[in-house]
Amino acid sequence: MIIDLRSDTVTLPSPAMREAMYRAEVGDDVYGEDPTINRLQELAAERTGKEAALFVPTGTMGNTVSVLAHAGRGEAVIVGDQSHIYRYEVGGASTLGGSPMYVIPTDENGMLDLHKIETGISDGSDEHSAPTALLCIENTHNRCGGMVLDLEQLEALTSLAHTHNVKVHMDGARIFNAATALGVPVSSVAQKVDSMMFCLSKGLSAPVGSMVVGSREFIYKAHRMRKLLGGGMRQAGVIAAAGIVALEQMVERLAEDHEHCKATRPWAG
Ligand SMILES: Cc1ncc(COP(=O)(O)O)c(C=O)c1O
Repeated sequence: MIIDLRSDTVTLPSPAMREAMYRAEVGDDVYGEDPTINRLQELAAERTGKEAALFVPTGTMGNTVSVLAHAGRGEAVIVGDQSHIYRYEVGGASTLGGSPMYVIPTDENGMLDLHKIETGISDGSDEHSAPTALLCIENTHNRCGGMVLDLEQLEALTSLAHTHNVKVHMDGARIFNAATALGVPVSSVAQKVDSMMFCLSKGLSAPVGSMVVGSREFIYKAHRMRKLLGGGMRQAGVIAAAGIVALEQMVERLAEDHEHCKATRPWAG
C-alpha cells in the first residue's frame, strides 16, 4: 500500500461520507432550502462558538468573501508576507475588493510582529493613507510548516487589532489541527477572531468544501459576496453531507495523524 503524504488534500472520502452523500436530502440552497447545507452550517457555527456559518466550495473563496465582507473598496487589509491569502489567492482582496494589502513579515513560527502591525494600522485621519479595516492571520500556518498560534498569541493579535477598531479574520484552513495540537476546543481558538474560514477538505477527508463562520451580520455580508463570486450553489447538500461526517467523525482522528507525523518527522516536534 502507498501512503501519499504530499498533502492532506489528497485524501479520499470515507465510506461513511459516500453513504451520507448518496442519502443526502437536498433542496435549492440559493433559496436557503437545502436541509443538509443548513444542518452543516448550524453544526459549524455551534462547534466554533460563532453565531452563523456559510458553506463555500473552497478555502480560497472562503477567505475572499471574508475579506470582501470586512473591508470595503479603498480600505486596507494587513497580511503576513508568507500568508496563503497574500501568496496564493491571486490577490483577491485587491483585485476584486479594491483593498490595498499592507504586507508585514511573518516570523518562522507563523506569528506577525505586533509592533509592525501597530505601525501599519491607519485610522484614516491622514488623507494620504487608506484606513485599515482588517488584519488577517493564519493558523495553522501553511508556509511555516504547520506552526500553531497559541491562545496567548491570538489574544495579543486580536486585542491589538480591536483596540484600533480593526477586525480580525483567521485563515483557519487547518484550525482543527491547531485545536488538537493545543489540546483545547476549536471554539477557544476561534473565540477572539471576528471571522474564520476552515476547510472540510483538508485533513478531514471531505472531497469538497470550506466554512466561513462569524457573527450573523458578517455572514449576511459574506453570503452576498459568495453570490457575487458565483458561489451560490443549488442542490449542494450532496457535498455538504460529507462535510457533516467530516465534523462529526474525522476531527478526533487528527490526534492520530499528529502521532504519525511525529513518528515520521521526529525533528518536527
Ligand atoms: C492556509 C490555507 N488557506 C487557504 C487555502 C485554500 O484552500 P483551497 O485550496 O480550498 O482554496 C489553503 C490551501 O491549501 C491553505 O493551506
